[in-house]
Amino acid sequence: MSDPNDLAAFLELGWQRLTRGVADRRAAARHPVLATVSPDGFPEARTVVLRGANRTGGVVEVHTDSGSDKIASLQARPFAQLHIWDEKVQLQLRLSTSVEITQGAAVAQKWSRVPGGSRMAYGASPKPGTAIPHAHAYEKLASESCFAVLTCTIRQIELMHLADPHRCAVFKADDGWCGEWRVP
Ligand SMILES: Cc1cc2nc3c(=O)[nH]c(=O)nc-3n(C[C@H](O)[C@H](O)[C@H](O)COP(=O)(O)O)c2cc1C
Repeated sequence: MSDPNDLAAFLELGWQRLTRGVADRRAAARHPVLATVSPDGFPEARTVVLRGANRTGGVVEVHTDSGSDKIASLQARPFAQLHIWDEKVQLQLRLSTSVEITQGAAVAQKWSRVPGGSRMAYGASPKPGTAIPHAHAYEKLASESCFAVLTCTIRQIELMHLADPHRCAVFKADDGWCGEWRVP
């Protein structure tokens, strides 16, 4: 059995599960909850698709419609937490991140790799969140100009493992990800 006090192995497990989320539609990390704070200070959380996870760069990536409310929230406060509960390995991941929003020419290559059917997720008219008279009173325009990439630079990863006994550790970019154990 592996050493339960091995911080490096614990972090490695976290990254394995994250990376798997990008490649495997059925993996828990495929659908993190992205939490932000609204411009008037309210917490807000929503499910997203994990589009990228790069351990070397310490970043994860999410795609969204630039008309969605989360963009205004991130413009006001460029911070987000991503939450994942990976039941298969009994692991909760919490990633505290700084978020950069990129659109237009800088993300044209990424847009070119978005499959035709998935493009409908970008460019709702009227914009997402608008009140409408009936359920289908909107169009999905598949608009490149509404395609926004959220590059989430990780400041901290908290891993909580529901082993017996439980284990919790925090890893920070600032100290080179060496990590420390925390009381779960
Ligand atoms: C399974 C699932 C995956 C989703 N993936 C995304 C996504 O990748 N990007 C996104 O902006 N919204 C995604 N959504 C929709 C969001 O949860 C949310 O409803 C929408 O982005 C509007 O959120 P906002 O008003 O807080 O901006 C997804 C929803 C579900 C249920």
